[in-house]
Amino acid sequence: MARKRIKIAPSMMCADFLNMKGQLELFERTGVDYLHVDIMDGHYVPNFTLGPDFCRVLDGGSSIPLDIHLMIEDVDRYIPDFAGFEGAVVSFHPEVSYHPIRSLQLIKSCGARAGIALDPALGLESIRYLLPEVSLVCVMTVNPGYAGQTLIPQALPKIKELAGYISGQGLQVEIEVDGNVSWQNIPDMLEAGADVLVAGSSSIFKSGEDLEENIQRLKNLVNKKS
Ligand code: DX5
Ligand code: ZN
Repeated sequence: MARKRIKIAPSMMCADFLNMKGQLELFERTGVDYLHVDIMDGHYVPNFTLGPDFCRVLDGGSSIPLDIHLMIEDVDRYIPDFAGFEGAVVSFHPEVSYHPIRSLQLIKSCGARAGIALDPALGLESIRYLLPEVSLVCVMTVNPGYAGQTLIPQALPKIKELAGYISGQGLQVEIEVDGNVSWQNIPDMLEAGADVLVAGSSSIFKSGEDLEENIQRLKNLVNKKS
């Protein structure tokens, strides 16, 4: 059976903020699939990054759908600020919600597709009953909160296990891998069943390297596996 086309999602927290317009034009020209936007509140993770205004700029500056990764605590309060963007998918970490299915329903009622983000320490058992409600699972392969970290190897087998479960259940859920998606790690991530790669400082945004060349390199790498 032909493998689904692998999708690329640049991690916008790693972007060059002094050249955002040029990068969005390059993303549209080269054809990336999502803009991965990490939202951090300094509580769920010990870091701050981007917010709703930044999402509005991205949404107005390109036609590429937003893939908003909420690494925040009070998720039900803030979902409406992020889930209204056309074509967006909004993910959160279910341990922050008293009633994660209700939070997923709130995302969908605001017009976005719903996703779940899985901390490297948590197993599939923690999201089994959420999978029928989501379009995407963001499997984190680093601890949430910072770019530039190293892969947590025990997170890799989760991708394969999740791919097997999704296929066995006949669910339509994309598996996104987020964290240290590097040239070295990508083959194993794809082999395990990743559908969407979050491309950050480990690949396309490697400092001192040409973004367009790295996007092409990433596309070549994933096309070999598609
Ligand atoms: C980590 C973020 C990732 C990260 C990916 O909390 O969710 O998106 O920025 O970038 P690298 O390649 O630096 O891990
Ligand atoms: Zn992320």
